[in-house]
Amino acid sequence: MKINVFFTPLGVDDLYFKDKTTVVIDVLRASSTIITALNNGAKEIIPVAGIESAIKLSGGMFGGHTLLCGERNTKKIDGFALGNSPFEFTKEIVSNKTIVLYTTNGTKALTKTKFSENLFVGSFLNLNSLTNHLLNLNNNLEIVCAGSNNHFSIEDALCAGFICDKILQKNKDAVLTDSAKAAVTLKKKNNQNVIETLLDSDHGKILIENGFEKDIEYCAQVSITDIIPYYNNSSIKILNIL
Ligand code: MLT
Repeated sequence: MKINVFFTPLGVDDLYFKDKTTVVIDVLRASSTIITALNNGAKEIIPVAGIESAIKLSGGMFGGHTLLCGERNTKKIDGFALGNSPFEFTKEIVSNKTIVLYTTNGTKALTKTKFSENLFVGSFLNLNSLTNHLLNLNNNLEIVCAGSNNHFSIEDALCAGFICDKILQKNKDAVLTDSAKAAVTLKKKNNQNVIETLLDSDHGKILIENGFEKDIEYCAQVSITDIIPYYNNSSIKILNIL
């Protein structure tokens, strides 16, 4: 099993992911929000790379069962039902709903990797279940950090490091590329400090400025759910492991 990490999706061609097993990570906050929405009963999430496509897509869908959601500069977009805070995606609001989601980096990384043979959404929230599933699959793995406007994001790299390290502990034959080794080094340095690292991250500081400090605390929780979001046929649903 070979594991590679992209610290941003910048410069990777979409077709690179054909036949690959891929995990997309956007800890703050798209991955964490997708996991939360599915955990709270959303039927599916349709990630889109542009606001216009989000509006067009949701307009063509059956009204009451579709929620148009997303953020620009961390805030809910005018006219959208919800923003991108996991706290907005409650059971009452999202149960049985199709969610069309646009976010600045996370949903773009998901659409870039859509040709993957297997495409999963990862964050700290589902770390254990996702890692165990990847170990069972035993495929080569591409971990794509959404980053921030094509820049490195420490929270995504840290989560990638946790995944790589957990896999290495159970599969001693796993081979890491240089970027995956760097992610593990980061993890070993910040082992006990997930919350501090997130609060002190570039995007964490922007979220705090915009009143979303609680979101950061929420997204820093490790393995609070077994949900593994899986992308198939343009939408993300909970993976059913038989
Ligand atoms: C993104 O996709 O860039 C993020 O999820 C932004 C955010 O809502 O914090």
